[in-house]
Amino acid sequence: MERLQKVLAHAGVASRRKSEEMILQGKVKVNGKVVTELGIKVTDADTVEVEGVKLEKEQKVYYLLYKPRGVISAVTDDKGRKTVTDLLPHVTERLYPVGRLDYETSGVLLLTNDGDFSYALTHPKFKVDKTYVARVKGIPLKEQLRPLERGVVLEDGKTAPARVKLLSSERKTDKAIIEITIHEGKNRQVRRMFDAIGFPVQKLKRERFGFLTLHSLNAGEWRELSTHEVKQLRVLAETGKIGN
Ligand code: URA
Repeated sequence: MERLQKVLAHAGVASRRKSEEMILQGKVKVNGKVVTELGIKVTDADTVEVEGVKLEKEQKVYYLLYKPRGVISAVTDDKGRKTVTDLLPHVTERLYPVGRLDYETSGVLLLTNDGDFSYALTHPKFKVDKTYVARVKGIPLKEQLRPLERGVVLEDGKTAPARVKLLSSERKTDKAIIEITIHEGKNRQVRRMFDAIGFPVQKLKRERFGFLTLHSLNAGEWRELSTHEVKQLRVLAETGKIGN
């Protein structure tokens, strides 16, 4: 017996939260009847339908993609732009990105059909570190980077303290390369943090997601996560430990 929203999330329909919304919106049927309560439990013997489509039990799959720039972190795009799932055409399961990277941002992006796993890794209460390398306009002094380390006020709240390191700078072109590690996932967070201190981001790449790096992948390439990595990521989400 499992809660309906958990079954939907497991089947890769959507995250658990999104699945709850779909139930409340009357999009889900159990044994032919619309269910709008969140408490209901189902078993394998029950037939579950989402927007008229019967739920099939899928194998869970987990991928790490080196997302290139110019690709959208979504399953479909109404403007017809290339999406991250277009880069894994052989995968027949319904893959969803774990969180998102902006259209112009490159780097580590996980994709899975495991809604619970995705929820655990993206919810702000689970503190998974993400490390980005940003090229910014201008060369900040140490003191000018300090607000990022303390937390800056954005329109949707104050950011948690970040770890920040100036990697290099070039006077001639007036640019700096900065590494920044955050564990939240506010929309366009890194770009907005640098805007807030007056050093706009020109290029952004996510180098690490928890302990996962782009190691040996080129832009547009992917690999499957091992069972061990998936287990480690779950532990990381729960405890904030393991190579974070
Ligand atoms: N922060 C951003 O500004 N963009 C991303 O894609 C990820 C984090």
